[in-house]
Amino acid sequence: MRTAIITGASSGLGREFVFQLTSAFPEIERVILIARRKALLEELAEGLSIEAECLPLDLCKPEDLESLREYLARESPEVELLINCAGCGYLSNVAETDPALLDRMIDLNVRALTAVTRAAAPYLVEGGHIINASSIASFCPNPRMTVYSSTKAYVSFFSLGLREELRSRKVSVTAVCPGPMDTEFLDIGGITGNSPMFKMLPHCDPKKVAAGSYTSAKAGRAVYTPKGFFKLYRAVSKVVPLTLLVKMTKT
Ligand SMILES: NC(=O)c1ccc[n+]([C@@H]2O[C@H](COP(=O)([O-])OP(=O)(O)OC[C@H]3O[C@@H](n4cnc5c(N)ncnc54)[C@H](OP(=O)(O)O)[C@@H]3O)[C@@H](O)[C@H]2O)c1
Repeated sequence: MRTAIITGASSGLGREFVFQLTSAFPEIERVILIARRKALLEELAEGLSIEAECLPLDLCKPEDLESLREYLARESPEVELLINCAGCGYLSNVAETDPALLDRMIDLNVRALTAVTRAAAPYLVEGGHIINASSIASFCPNPRMTVYSSTKAYVSFFSLGLREELRSRKVSVTAVCPGPMDTEFLDIGGITGNSPMFKMLPHCDPKKVAAGSYTSAKAGRAVYTPKGFFKLYRAVSKVVPLTLLVKMTKT
């Protein structure tokens, strides 16, 4: 049974990926929804026209990652699509941030994304796709979100390397790099009302980001950056030394 796995499915961009799944990939027959909030996953699953399995997992917990590995070993699914969308980012200078929050960003954005990818890798089918939620924060460090932007640089690098490793299996890997989106992310990260940069930047619509990500994945693109403004920023970050650019990227 052709299967999709979506982490961070309970809200924001992940939820949009779920809503648009069947129209983008009509051949997919089952989706595995992962996030911590079980009730939200179940509510989402009820509205779907395909089979949906809800896995309420905390991807920061090694035992929950182990449960996922065991589940996949039991089910041995034919994974056509893996979307690593779970992520978090907290606004604060490193030296003033609760160390637990720094760990959480690294655990979820880096460790869990890597572990989920490794767990799903044996089950990816030829012609399959991986979509990883990165960010414009991966283009240049963002002071006041230094750890977050570093984790997203990892996601973009990881995606590009993995893309080459999986080329022979005809599995595409796309790093999605949106600008700010009005999701729970902004409140959870203490960003709402506290960041002149987030206020000034154009915001991306998660619906459009999900649709563009699906199109990019099917086209086999390595990176998808929504909006002309952020495409230009990406180009600038490749030519202007980051030691200079970083002076203008404080969040
Ligand atoms: N919003 C933005 O401005 C923005 C911009 C660029 C990139 N991004 C990236 O886009 C992705 C999606 O973010 P979003 O804006 O949609 O944020 P969101 O609405 O806060 O969604 C985050 C998702 O991650 C899940 N999650 C959080 N902690 C988890 C954990 N420990 N274990 C399992 N799941 C967990 C959440 O579900 P539960 O709470 O139910 O666990 C939720 O489904 C993230 O990777 C983010 O870094 C966001």
